Amino acid sequence: MSEYITLGQTYVMNTYNRFPIVIDHGEGVYIYDNQGKKYLDMCAGIAVNALGYSHKGLTEALKAQVDQLLHISNLYYIPQQIEAAKLLVEHSIFDKAFFCNSGAEANEAALKLAKKYGKRLRETKTKVITMNHSFHGRTYGALSATGQTKYQKNFTPMMPGFSHAEYNDIESLKALIDADTCAVLIEVLQGEGGIVPGNKAYLKEVEALCKAYDALLIVDEVQTGIGRTGTLFAFENFDIKPDVVTLAKALGGGVPIGAMLCTSKADVFEPADHAATFGGNPLATTAAKVVLNELINTDLLEQVKEVGSYLEQELYKIKQEFSLVTAVRGMGLMQGLVLNSSPKDVVNKCIEKGMLVVGAGENVVRFVPPLVITKEHVDECISILKEALAEL
Ligand SMILES: Cc1ncc(COP(=O)(O)O)c(C=O)c1O
Repeated sequence: MSEYITLGQTYVMNTYNRFPIVIDHGEGVYIYDNQGKKYLDMCAGIAVNALGYSHKGLTEALKAQVDQLLHISNLYYIPQQIEAAKLLVEHSIFDKAFFCNSGAEANEAALKLAKKYGKRLRETKTKVITMNHSFHGRTYGALSATGQTKYQKNFTPMMPGFSHAEYNDIESLKALIDADTCAVLIEVLQGEGGIVPGNKAYLKEVEALCKAYDALLIVDEVQTGIGRTGTLFAFENFDIKPDVVTLAKALGGGVPIGAMLCTSKADVFEPADHAATFGGNPLATTAAKVVLNELINTDLLEQVKEVGSYLEQELYKIKQEFSLVTAVRGMGLMQGLVLNSSPKDVVNKCIEKGMLVVGAGENVVRFVPPLVITKEHVDECISILKEALAEL
């Protein structure tokens, strides 16, 4: 184990505060390190491994695709990509899909789409409003959109044209939006910012303001999308109709893929406006098709709703029991335990006791397990969490 830790520190750039464990393989909702220690995975690669590990349907489809064709350029029609796009379009309010490789890239695509949408109406209609405490990724456009200076401070100047409103505060958005606004980019449930749900009435007003100013409403569903909250897209819980959504993480069930979906109104890209060499390649879109089919054609979404509310209810009981816990926030299988301190000690204790969880914001322990998790796994999670909290 320590051999890889030393080698990793020698050869891999120091961009993560890594935990001192070396992961070997996964099975169902469990991960095993290379010493054979088993962990219940309530993190899922940070909301990625939707179908858990070694999912038969996913691995078999991928193995077959490896034998057939790994990659081909978007200069040609790619059946797997077209089928994945068809699934996304036919099960959403959107009309077109663009594929890329990550959440940041999906947001870059959406920002470019919004600028072009605005410029077609008026040259100066290029301003984008996002929210404080949001997170949209690490590339320059996405980082400039992100409403957290801690991620930006070593990399200024940020790109021009962005301003940040207070989340869940419509007056703050009203003060910023004007005829030169081409888009509002928002998470309906802030993830990295600390698992903060949007208020339904607020989000309806955001939608109305976007309509009034002819600005695109872009919902970043990189973390919340693809079943995480019990619906295919989290915005469905808020009775709003975005013009654009961005996706990544769970869409490939572990294979890197990102996507942007838009309605015909926002479908302004033409050839050469935007591209990605690997975007929507046969391997990645084969994975997306399996994940989407599981969500659309089985009762998995119902299970996410049921197990998600069970997890939420059990976390509330934890809150009653431990004064360290001040609140429970979240939706479906995206839950946060809010602490009166940094989540670091709780996360470390849980890992020591055989459960992977991850922090969010300044004081939140985040639970974003595989979507295939059951109530029995939740019971196991709660019992480990209790033991961990009792020892702190
Ligand atoms: C809401 C949101 N948007 C964008 C991103 C960036 O995604 P990626 O790391 O795939 O670029 C993340 C990652 O955590 C996210 O949570």
